[in-house]
Amino acid sequence: MKIFDRKKELNAFTLEQRNKDRTIGLVPTMGALHTGHISLIKKALSENDLVVVSIFVNPTQFDKKDDLDKYPRTFEKDIDLLKQVSDNIVVFAPTVDEIYEGKVTPESYEFNGLDKVMEGEFRAGHFDGVGTIVELLLRTVAPDSAYFGEKDFQQLQIIRKMAEIKNLPYTIIGCPIEREPNGLAMSSRNERLSKKPREQAGFIHDTLQAAKAKFGTKSAAYITDWVKSEFEQHPLFDLEYFEIADENTLTPAFKIQDNQKYRAFIAVYADGVRLIDNLRLN
Ligand code: PAJ
Repeated sequence: MKIFDRKKELNAFTLEQRNKDRTIGLVPTMGALHTGHISLIKKALSENDLVVVSIFVNPTQFDKKDDLDKYPRTFEKDIDLLKQVSDNIVVFAPTVDEIYEGKVTPESYEFNGLDKVMEGEFRAGHFDGVGTIVELLLRTVAPDSAYFGEKDFQQLQIIRKMAEIKNLPYTIIGCPIEREPNGLAMSSRNERLSKKPREQAGFIHDTLQAAKAKFGTKSAAYITDWVKSEFEQHPLFDLEYFEIADENTLTPAFKIQDNQKYRAFIAVYADGVRLIDNLRLN
């Protein structure tokens, strides 16, 4: 498997591939790969001749240094896993200096408020950091398409917005959430849960599904109160937020419009681990 750590060499390789009329998919990751990441890679492989998987823990999207230091780094294991998936994968794993060329400051984007709610509300600058690294990766690889998980639905919409603002000619593709058998959305953070909360964490997805069943007959405010009371009664999980929002603008749904798509978004603490999930409602 080819592993690049230099932009220039990756660029030369992808150019050569493109000259051979081979299509290229890009799957950006921060490593610690799990089945959720692999589902994106398999989708990209099914639609392209070659897939570039980037592995880079991006400092500009972490607002706390401690979080950045603690982020799991399992490079050798990731490479072994990717080798088992396909021969048509190449890895791009640059250093911070290589990708940022010494200028480790995020660009300031106008995301039209998409970055101010939910995941953006308490993490100042987080989405500017995500936008900056994804723009750099897209420009470096120049793929036909790039693949992102709906697990981080707000991130996906922010990346679509960034690509639109910057007129980037790459197709951004959203991929469904991969779940554990009990419904818990897969995440590298799940490894940090102890046995009991992990077993019971299907409660988060179950609650989203129950909210979906109520959607259409009950108001967003009613459903939100109901979800809050469900979590108040649960001994293992603390609700940070539950929000019913318009899929495109991510603004809270005060009044449901027939022609709009809505999603329920949730963030929960279990065992000190922060878990996020979301579900389409209509
Ligand atoms: P990371 O958390 O490593 O996730 C990489 C990609 O995998 C993201 O698009 C994420 O939405 C997707 N993903 C994670 N868990 C998933 C699941 N259970 N089902 C489907 N997709 C899943 O997200 C990032 O890295 C970074 O912010 C990045 C975009 C790489 C920029 O640094």
